[in-house]
Formats: sequence, C-alpha cells, structure tokens
Amino acid sequence: MNVTIVGTGYVGLVTGACLAELGNNVFCLDLDRNKIDLLNAGGIPIHEPGLEEVLLRNVEEGRLTFSCDVAASVAFADLQFIAVGTPPDEDGSADLKYVLAAARAIGRHMDRFKVIVDKSTVPVGTAQEVAAVVREELAKRGREDIAFSVASNPEFLKEGAAIDDFMRPDRIVLGVDDDEPGQRALALLRELYRPFNRNHERTRVMDVRSAEFTKYAANAMLATRISFMNELANLADRVGADIELVRQGIGSDPRIGYSFLYAGTGYGGSCFPKDVDALCRTAQAHGLPLQVLTAVQRVNQAQKHVLLDKIRAQFGRRLAGRTFAVWGLAFKPGTDDMREAPSRLVIGALLRAGARVRAHDPVAQEQAARVLADDLQDHPELLRNITFVAKPLDAVTGADALVLLTEWKIYKSPNLRAMKDAMRTSLVLDGRNLYEPHAMAQAGFTYLGIGRNN
Ligand code: UGA
Repeated sequence: MNVTIVGTGYVGLVTGACLAELGNNVFCLDLDRNKIDLLNAGGIPIHEPGLEEVLLRNVEEGRLTFSCDVAASVAFADLQFIAVGTPPDEDGSADLKYVLAAARAIGRHMDRFKVIVDKSTVPVGTAQEVAAVVREELAKRGREDIAFSVASNPEFLKEGAAIDDFMRPDRIVLGVDDDEPGQRALALLRELYRPFNRNHERTRVMDVRSAEFTKYAANAMLATRISFMNELANLADRVGADIELVRQGIGSDPRIGYSFLYAGTGYGGSCFPKDVDALCRTAQAHGLPLQVLTAVQRVNQAQKHVLLDKIRAQFGRRLAGRTFAVWGLAFKPGTDDMREAPSRLVIGALLRAGARVRAHDPVAQEQAARVLADDLQDHPELLRNITFVAKPLDAVTGADALVLLTEWKIYKSPNLRAMKDAMRTSLVLDGRNLYEPHAMAQAGFTYLGIGRNN
C-alpha cells in the first residue's frame, strides 16, 4: 500500500521505517529542509536502536522517500498519517498547531478520498477539529464533494525499543467513525495492519474519542504505578523495608504484575510528564479535576529531589569543593533523549551548590551538554565545573560519591574493586536500584538506594 507520514520526528520516522519494512511504499514529509536533507544523505536525527538499519535498507530498496513537497505527499497516498509534535503550550495543554496545520495542508491539496490518521498523541476531540479544518479547506476550493475520514491510531512505542514495539505490538488501537467514510477508513487500516494479526487478532476497533482517550489512559496508568511505588519506596526507607522485595512480593499477584513498578528518581521523557499534564488539563476544562493524577504529578516532581536530599543528608548543604560522579544522563537507557531527565535537575543543583560533576553516558553526552547549557543560562560559568568523560571509571576517579541516574547495561556489573580504589569516598547513591545493597556493603561501599532499607 501507499502511505504518507507527515512529520519525521521520533514517531513519524519509526512508523514510516517500519511500514516500509512491511513492504509498503512510504512517503515521509517534513517541512524542515535540514532534516529532510540529512535523512536523504543517509543521516538520522535521533538515537534509536535498530532504526538506522531499517531506514537505510528501505531507502535503498526504494520503498521509503523523504521530501518537503506537500502537494506530492498528499497525492501519494489515500492514507495520510499525522505524526507531528504536540508540544505543551503555556498552560500545559497539548498545542495542536502543527497537527491542524498538517490537516489544513491535506485539505488544501487533496483531490480524492483520503483517510487522515492521527498518530500523534492528541486530546479527546482532536479528530473532530482536524475534520473541521479539512472541511474548511475543501469548502474554500468548492470541493465539498470529496469524501474523507479522520481516524485515531495512537502509538504505544517506548523509546529505545520502538522498532520492536512497532513490529510486535500488544495491540493496535483503531478509532473510526461509524459512517461510510469511517468504515472505508477501517478497511484500509485493517489491510495495512494485517501482517500483525496473522496468528492473533490484536486490533481493537472503537470510536474515535475512545481511541484518543486510550492513549492518555495508558500513559496515565503507567505513570501512576511509578509514583505509587516511589511514594512507598520513601516510606520503606523510613520503616526499614526493602522496596525491591516488596515489588517482587506484590508483583506475583497477576492482577498487579511485576513490570513498571520500579522505584527510582521519578519518571521523565517526552511522554509521561506531558501526557499526564495534558489529561489533567482536559479534566479541569471539563470541571472534573483528576485527583489521583494530580497527586501522581506532585509525587513525581518531589521524587526528582530524593537523591539530592540523600546527598545533603550525607554532606550537608555546602557542597563546594566536592566532586560527584554521575553515571547516566538520558531519561532512560536506550536513548539520547534528555527531555525531563532527572539528571538535569540533579546536576543543575549540584553545580549551583558549588560542586564539581564528572559525568558519563554512553550516548547522551552531547545532548546533555546542550540542554545543561540551556538550563544554566543564568550561570554559564558553572558549566566549567562539569566534565564529560569517556569511560564510567574516569567519572568516579577522585569522586566523593557516585550518583547513578540511568540504568544503562554498561553500569550493571562494574569492577567494584577498581571503583573503590579510584573514589575518594566510597559512597554510591543508586537512583535506579541497580545494585544489591548487601553486595555493595560487602565490597566496602556506603550504599544508598531508593527505598532499600537505608
Ligand atoms: C512511554 C510509554 O511506555 C509508551 O508506551 C508510550 O508509547 C510512550 O510513552 C509515548 O507516549 O509515546 P517512554 O516515554 O519511551 O514510553 O518511556 P518509558 O519506558 O515508559 O519510561 C518512562 C519513564 O518512566 C522513564 O523515566 C523511566 O525511567 C520511568 N520508569 C519506568 C520508572 O521510573 N519505573 C518503572 O518501573 C518504569
């Protein structure tokens, strides 16, 4: 089938590459000429394991095209996926200007039936707005005769595992209208996703509003589990329990399950904080503030400070002259994404308190340097106190403490003896509970995890 993807950001690129990999012809449109030039030159603007390979193969085999040509992109396919960004606007609601601009462009150029598929995460009711904009453009051209339908097909991709998530989905949510164009849309989307339903039907068909809502509900549920565990972890610290054992104890109940119950330094990234906030705004706008989710946000904000509190409990408020090793900068492993990464808050606070930071991350160092320069605009001289190093052991050399912020595999089994010899004080603050407390104690470290009996 022919498919157009509008927007070559994270979601658009992964979706385009994977749909091409399934044998479809995919036209990726972006208005950012630099991005399109980079992609056409074989470059790739984001770090995502496996993506480069899939992109290159499909470009080479002629199934994947990148272009800035709007008219050509609309003409190319009946299926037009909108996968542009929905950044939070000033009050935290999702800003739909790019989504609606994409819809307008489609309406301006279409000359036959189209299915417009919202792939970006958009608030309930957006499909209706998209349809209104398309209808307006058609009316301007006196082409109200052209039929179209707007469908919702939210993505559930995790950064760092996006290719696999796309190729082996748990579910494919399709929100379509009941009318004739809606059913035509459904037939096309079913055909597109047929390869995923061979042994097992994974498609969940529903009305458009429920599909839009499903995406927010999924992220909100996951965020809730994390904040819940983080709050219990802090209590576990007070009462002398180990949250990791508690996780295993409750996870064995299939109604609870083990995953997404890891205490840490708070959730980050481009999705959870933004989507939880947007859902809260939607609820407020409808006069039904969400009390649980409001607390989830508050707990998460506080959790980003937990390691700093532990650091201050060890060293007091004056950190000048201390050196902290930081392992892990990205908001999670497998990505160079620094959006809402807890490392920004922790490093910013350490530098502002006069400490030095020696930081390591296997892929996010460049991005980190960029965002930290931004975060510390008011005190650019502090950037002299952070050094990015090539190896994890280089970071701990001479350090008063190691602060682990992202659970990259490379940090899982460090050479503890070499580490201890290199550090000035053998203190480890483990923001991801990557290490076993008793093993660390045995190796001679003072070890502080999150909710692990300390
Ligand atoms: C999340 C969802 O998991 C995807 O299903 C969804 O498609 C995506 O948002 C999106 O809306 O596009 P992502 O933001 O890539 O994916 O990251 P996650 O793996 O979900 O992690 C989010 C944050 O939660 C990270 O900061 C992670 O460290 C934290 N986390 C995760 C915990 O603190 N504890 C856990 O047990 C799990």
